[in-house]
Amino acid sequence: MYVAVMGYGTVGSGVVEVLTKNHDSIVKKSLHDDIAVKYILDCRDFSAHLDSKKFIKDFNTILEDPEIDVVVETMGGIDPAFDFSLACLKKGKSVVTSNKELVAAKGLELLNAARENNANFLFEASVGGGIPIIRPISQCLAANEIEEICGILNGTTNFILSKMIKDNLSFDQSLKLAQENGYAEKDPTDDIDGHDAARKICILASLCFGNHVYPEHVYTEGITNITLADIDYASSFGSVIKLIAVAKKCSGGKIYTIVSPAIVNNASQLSGVDDVFNAVLVKGNATGDVVFYGKGAGKMPTASAVVADVIDCSNHLIHRKDFGWDASSENYVTDYLDAVLSLYVRARAKDPVKALNSLHKTFDCATVLTRKNAPADEIAFVTPAACERDLLEKIRGIDEIEILSTIRVSEC
Ligand code: HSE
Repeated sequence: MYVAVMGYGTVGSGVVEVLTKNHDSIVKKSLHDDIAVKYILDCRDFSAHLDSKKFIKDFNTILEDPEIDVVVETMGGIDPAFDFSLACLKKGKSVVTSNKELVAAKGLELLNAARENNANFLFEASVGGGIPIIRPISQCLAANEIEEICGILNGTTNFILSKMIKDNLSFDQSLKLAQENGYAEKDPTDDIDGHDAARKICILASLCFGNHVYPEHVYTEGITNITLADIDYASSFGSVIKLIAVAKKCSGGKIYTIVSPAIVNNASQLSGVDDVFNAVLVKGNATGDVVFYGKGAGKMPTASAVVADVIDCSNHLIHRKDFGWDASSENYVTDYLDAVLSLYVRARAKDPVKALNSLHKTFDCATVLTRKNAPADEIAFVTPAACERDLLEKIRGIDEIEILSTIRVSEC
């Protein structure tokens, strides 16, 4: 069986490496006598590469070659990854991708094209890198109604927050360290603003709840405003701050989904997930909580997931596999402000005594937090649980305070 790889970046080159290094054991697990990479599509010059003959620049070479059964898309982005993937599926070639942006935005169209053309569209590597999560949810947990899925889906932000929590480094210092370690990109926006995690929760939510969730419908907050003061207050509350992605079922067939920093209690399984690790907590109505944990990024872990999909495709060239979901209706995702939760608030108060009096008049049972070396005009508290919209209105109604930060308290 012949494979083509589109995009020879970090993941694409890892895929070729794994297919070469583990060639014999991979072939043994497939129904074929051989699995070989025939083409590598990349617009850059690889004439000095050992495999230079495999490098091509014209996508049509792959599309028009009937020997290519499986196409690996590791280009990233939507354009031209979407057009190329769709064209391959329409030709009956299976497509395997690690591209979360593509699956989150265009997964429904690509899954439909795969179904219509008796091919496969597989994307295990798009969430959690090397952590098996797509297949376990679709197959091993198939007997469950999944009620909620939440987790730490971005390694870069988890590394940054871990450095802030454990080493008392500022956000900027931690980001610099993440860049020096090769975790964060030069332009880290997608990670630190939460977009990468939002794409991943879209894929998981679509898979768990059966209808496509688009990134533009996921309210997303990043971690750029988190300060060491917030970290200290969270610690005094027996908690840590993590970037948490959540999707859960609501009444009326709708879902709630959000990506935002959250105060996570030390008793939660997610609280001890540090550095670049990811963890996904799935709540099934038969299994209870199931946690998937591991390295959520990196060349070889991600390539491992891609190659597993290639092997799966090699064993199901004709029969489609139903890794799918349907279209979603308008307003499928609820307004995040309707959710019931508690909020942590840090604020400036010229007269803290007066401010705390007002706070206790506003909320029956707010928890006041303290930290060492806090400025005299700073207060922090956690509200009781209520609808987020109402909480914000009440907090903004406390005249004696200037709000410096609000962070949701996680129930995960
Ligand atoms: N940049 C991502 C992360 C890896 O830090 O988790 C790819 O999704």
